[in-house]
Amino acid sequence: MAKYIVERILDNLYLLRINDDRVKFFEALWYIPEGITYNAYLLTSEEGVILFDGWKNCYAEEFVDAVREVSDPEDIRYIVVHHVEQDHSGSIQRILEANSGVAEVLCHPLATKMLQSLYTTPFRFRVVRDGEELLLGGRTLKFIYTPWLHWPETMVSYIVEDGVLISCDIFGGFSIPLMIFDDENDLTDYLKYVRKYVVDIVGYYSDYILKALDKMKNSGISPKIIAPAHGLIFRRNPRIIMDYYERIARGLPEKGKVTIVYNSMYGSVYEAISYAVGYLEKMGVRPIVFRFTDSEHPPIGDILSEIVDSDALIIGVSIYENDLFPYMSYLLELMARKIRVGKPILLISSYGWSRVASAKVSEKLAKTSFEMVGVVEFQGRPSIDDLRKIGDGITRLLRG
Ligand code: FEO
Repeated sequence: MAKYIVERILDNLYLLRINDDRVKFFEALWYIPEGITYNAYLLTSEEGVILFDGWKNCYAEEFVDAVREVSDPEDIRYIVVHHVEQDHSGSIQRILEANSGVAEVLCHPLATKMLQSLYTTPFRFRVVRDGEELLLGGRTLKFIYTPWLHWPETMVSYIVEDGVLISCDIFGGFSIPLMIFDDENDLTDYLKYVRKYVVDIVGYYSDYILKALDKMKNSGISPKIIAPAHGLIFRRNPRIIMDYYERIARGLPEKGKVTIVYNSMYGSVYEAISYAVGYLEKMGVRPIVFRFTDSEHPPIGDILSEIVDSDALIIGVSIYENDLFPYMSYLLELMARKIRVGKPILLISSYGWSRVASAKVSEKLAKTSFEMVGVVEFQGRPSIDDLRKIGDGITRLLRG
């Protein structure tokens, strides 16, 4: 049973969070055994209540219950839809019913048609402009467009007097943290889920993360609190999450981090990779290793998350139907889409009848800045000479 939390953040601002531990594949794509939270926010004032976003449709009833813990839904005067994706807008029909449809829905112009296509409730839209301000009950709400974070219609809200940035997808992360705020525990584990979220969900739009950060800076926005739609609220040091997003968007590497991803059907690639791991360890490098074998298949989203801040990669692949092993092929496609800053790669491949890995991998990564700095291809099992070439390749890889 998913649990929800209602927490006061400031005198008049509340978090409404539900811990989704039921979803297995976020967006029906990303395996997240760690779960995810959906965070909505509610601002009360003498001139009416403003609701920011909502929860996924399957939690619409619980959402209305959570709103009722703070305010009568009939008192909601505005509902801000920062982003139409249904993990946030899924409860809007139910909350508008509880509100008797009196609330105005504030959103980006692109959001209106999409909302109408998804929900049958009549909407009272009030489209907001980039930079527009709304005064309500002594608070100034400033709306800022943040296109492609994560859809084109996405925007954020800034409560000027309190320095609170309600940021929707941007500055969010996967997982269901035990805490609510950044100052309640160490952030090391949580930031790994942030990295996975950034790469998997908005990695394709990394440039827009940098644009949004610049835009906020140039608009004089320096938040004291960052309140995203997934994961932790940052109030001790919002710079931590802003800087971390920037770091991931730029693909900045952790010095000396090597990630190995390989498949092995009958042990030949495994033999070559085992040699590579031993060679790296002798050089003082402990690689992160993911393998597709007859006993394990790691989540692709986790692999991408480790690749984004690696210094170098080793890809091991066997040939299947005269092409790359399918899971490795899929991984390379997603690497090309989600990771915008390339890394040097040593490619190791075992083939049966034709040596095709180098050409196929080059094709997959053609429009990226990943760079193959070495290729070792062998028929069947690696020979002593092949292992020596792997050692040479690793030396070149680490030299950069
Ligand atoms: Fe959390 Fe793009 O929705």
